[in-house]
Amino acid sequence: MSKPTFYITTPIYYPSDNLHIGHSYCSTAADTMARFKKQTGYDVFFLTGTDEHGQKIERKAYDAGVTPQAYVDHIVDGIKKLWKLMDVEYDDFIRTTDERHVKSVQKIFKKLHDQGDIYKSEYEGWYCTPCESFWTELQLKEGCCPDCGRPVEKTKEESYFFKLSKYQDWLIDYIKTHPDFIQPPSRTAEMLNNFLIPGLQDLCVSRTSLKWGIPVDFDPKHTVYVWVDALTNYINALGYGSEDDTLYQKYWPADIHLVGKEIVRFHTIIWPIMLHALGLPLPKQVFGHGWLVMGGGKMSKSKGNVVDPVKLCERYSSDAVRYFLMREMPFGSDGEFSNEAMINRINSDLANDLGNLVSRSVAMIEKYFGGVVPAPAEYNDLDKELIEQAQTLWQKVEKSMNDLQFSGALTEIWRLIGKCNKYIDLNTPWVLAKDEAQKPRLGTVMYVLLECARIVAVLIAPTMPRTPERIFAQIGVTDAELKVWDSVKTFGGVKPGSIVKKGEALFPRIDVAKELELLEAERQAAIAAAAKKEELAAPADEEKTVFTQKDLCQFDDFEKIQLVVAKVLKCEKVPKADKLLMSTLKVGDTERIVVSGIAKFYTPEEMVGKKVVLLANLAPRKIRGIESHGMLLCAANADDSKLSLLTVDSDMEDGCEIG
Ligand code: MSP
Repeated sequence: MSKPTFYITTPIYYPSDNLHIGHSYCSTAADTMARFKKQTGYDVFFLTGTDEHGQKIERKAYDAGVTPQAYVDHIVDGIKKLWKLMDVEYDDFIRTTDERHVKSVQKIFKKLHDQGDIYKSEYEGWYCTPCESFWTELQLKEGCCPDCGRPVEKTKEESYFFKLSKYQDWLIDYIKTHPDFIQPPSRTAEMLNNFLIPGLQDLCVSRTSLKWGIPVDFDPKHTVYVWVDALTNYINALGYGSEDDTLYQKYWPADIHLVGKEIVRFHTIIWPIMLHALGLPLPKQVFGHGWLVMGGGKMSKSKGNVVDPVKLCERYSSDAVRYFLMREMPFGSDGEFSNEAMINRINSDLANDLGNLVSRSVAMIEKYFGGVVPAPAEYNDLDKELIEQAQTLWQKVEKSMNDLQFSGALTEIWRLIGKCNKYIDLNTPWVLAKDEAQKPRLGTVMYVLLECARIVAVLIAPTMPRTPERIFAQIGVTDAELKVWDSVKTFGGVKPGSIVKKGEALFPRIDVAKELELLEAERQAAIAAAAKKEELAAPADEEKTVFTQKDLCQFDDFEKIQLVVAKVLKCEKVPKADKLLMSTLKVGDTERIVVSGIAKFYTPEEMVGKKVVLLANLAPRKIRGIESHGMLLCAANADDSKLSLLTVDSDMEDGCEIG
């Protein structure tokens, strides 16, 4: 009989040169769940990847002086290395720059357009680049993005729109009749009350001012909105709509999309409506987990409160870090990360509780039985109580894991470990060992302990994939069938006569004070290094108006450049800046502000009325506090003693394209 399937995904990550421990949280949870499902007999497909398009990446690449493609290629390698280090074992890694993804996005967009769900109009509103989100004036909070609180940019452009509003009532009904679709339940209420019941507006799904993205193939000056592009990764990776859609047929609909709470909105409103419009089934569940916070706020590089998972894994082992992430807070709620909490947990739960159970049991069998596992004699009430707890533990663990309550599952396992350590103290093996007549009793106690350690090793495997083998090696378990899920359902797997072997401490105790000092010093050094990198990377404001592409310009790159004729409507000097003029330009029926370093060569009066050449799709930059939208092209000699603006030599309308 074929195994049941289980398809789980993480969000696809924005490429960043150092993902922090908050990012690792979601991947660790997804990996833990994938391993658990494999362990319990499922045919699992686990997908992760990177979300590589959009304004944010375009700007970062520009700042780094490289092409967006070169920028993301470099970073993706680092992300894959992190997942390897953390034992995140995915089945596929999709990049939104993969050809398989690009082609599918274009097909999906066209299908929705052809069936009338996507239509062309004009977008006027606000855009938050860090969140890649559109907002209406009313949705802004004190003029800023209501999600992240950062400044938004005014956007007005021809756009395609997706008819979200048409599907609003259907979605409300779907969510109400499928209470498991959005989890935990509090997020369902949030989506209904904050977004759906107040009413959905059609969504702007293309941009003309952004080039780093997937072009709409039937209207290539439009780029597909990044979220529409990104969300489809979950089906594109399975080959949806391609010649070979075997994986799609096998695994879709997904069992769980795991996502952070701030992106539940995209996954439970835009994504289901897209799928429904395409006639496809919806994922069975979207689970919105909480954030790892530090000092009360979400970790973010700009706040300097991030923790590097690479350092932690190298220092304490990936299993210890994974254990802490899954144990510390209930999945779904926010949780405070602190080095101190992590070290204390490693010391108390791993070094003391688990480590001692294994090392004491093995040491006593070596000491009292020459390392040979004794056969149990008759079990007394104390034994029976522990055995009952051990052989039914899998039921509690299975229930918690299936509910994504990782912390609950681990708490149950540690309850057994605690009970075992107490059992040692109650039975005082060192006293039994003094009396030869008590040898059978001593053997029973040792056997019970070892079997409990085996059960624990099997049950922790999804969260801590490396530790079980280390335990098995010490307690003398070699048979593969004693390492699998079904083996924990009956007590008595460990074979009398097998040989135990004391090994290194599973988790060495950490000197808390010394370690905290060291970690803090490293954190400060990392903040200083990041600040220095930023300072070196940031050219002086005026220099930023110069395009600093390092690579050769390929034809494709050239095609991305939008040069247009612009008419200067107004011009004035920028206060306290000798070189700068601020011009208001008319480009077709839009207006924009451009700041240029030309004040030594042109007076504001001379500028007004000129028809100049504008690099129109340069990412906006703040120059002396003024946001400049584009660059005026000039000819200048080497020492900048002469400069002349490029103009067109016959009377062309502003807005005309140059190329
Ligand atoms: N690219 C989008 C997702 C597109 S999915 C179609 C994105 N990327 S992200 O890199 O910003 O975030 C990826 C995941 O990391 C999100 O689920 C986010 O919630 C999670 N986390 C980022 N910081 C986090 C914490 N501090 N704590 C827990 N999770 C956090 O969003």
